[in-house]
Amino acid sequence: MSTETNGTETNGTGTNGTGPRIVIVTGGSRGLGAGIVASYLASGDRVAACARSVTPEVEAWREQYPDHFLFAPADLSSSADAKAFVDAVIDRWDRVDVLINNAGVARDGILGMASDEDIDVVVDLNIKGTLYMSRLVSRRMLARRSGSIVNISSIVGRSGYRGLGVYSATKAALDGLTRSMARELGSRGITVNGIAPGYLRTEMSHGLDEGQMDQIVRRTPAGRLGDPDDIARVCQFLTDPRNDYLTGQVIVVDGGLTS
Ligand SMILES: NC(=O)c1ccc[n+]([C@@H]2O[C@H](COP(=O)([O-])OP(=O)(O)OC[C@H]3O[C@@H](n4cnc5c(N)ncnc54)[C@H](OP(=O)(O)O)[C@@H]3O)[C@@H](O)[C@H]2O)c1
Repeated sequence: MSTETNGTETNGTGTNGTGPRIVIVTGGSRGLGAGIVASYLASGDRVAACARSVTPEVEAWREQYPDHFLFAPADLSSSADAKAFVDAVIDRWDRVDVLINNAGVARDGILGMASDEDIDVVVDLNIKGTLYMSRLVSRRMLARRSGSIVNISSIVGRSGYRGLGVYSATKAALDGLTRSMARELGSRGITVNGIAPGYLRTEMSHGLDEGQMDQIVRRTPAGRLGDPDDIARVCQFLTDPRNDYLTGQVIVVDGGLTS
């Protein structure tokens, strides 16, 4: 993995009254992750994002926030890449206050037709990548006795979805991880929560055809698909240091679809 950093330090001020937080967003190059990165940059925090490739959004943030934004290419299904990414963040800012485990991948198709590679790609990123990042970052948070972790799950981890068996299994696994980590870390001032979004307008949902999309919208009380902003606002809430009594929960944000 190579590391790319920008600019020099300044003292910004976050909206939480305690100064800028150091926030990691995995898969922060597009889709939901990009919405979450934009939200924390807008609240004055310092944001480190990773993904396998650079996008126009990443290029724009490098220009606009040279002191507050760091991007490092990383394939999080590799433990070595995860470590190099976290090391780059620590080199630059010396701590991590917030970890948003957002990077995830889905492969469509019924389980009976899935290849070993289909299973490995989804399990290696969604479960193992999240475990690698959470292990590395929680060690740092334990030393400081503070921090917040949010795991991006999915409603299909609870409800299931035809053709998304492997993906659904990984998201259900993340919900178990969220509850276990909350129990392990609660007494050390670290909160761990999950968000289970419904269907969002991102590249990942392009696998759904028009008919499936229309059906989802018809069945959603809010009458629309979700936007990254809908989820980013909940991330901000869950990682607000004032909300330190809220841990071990997986919040469903789906416009009422599964209510
Ligand atoms: N879209 C939905 O309807 C929906 C619903 C519920 C939950 N979610 C969850 O929300 C999260 C974000 O989804 P999205 O819709 O924003 O997906 P997306 O548009 O496909 O973006 C995925 C992000 O993860 C990165 N990524 C993929 N493979 C990676 C790897 N091996 N290592 C590091 N980064 C990697 C991607 O960049 P690169 O490809 O360049 O690496 C990209 O930044 C996922 O956890 C997903 O399961 C999505």
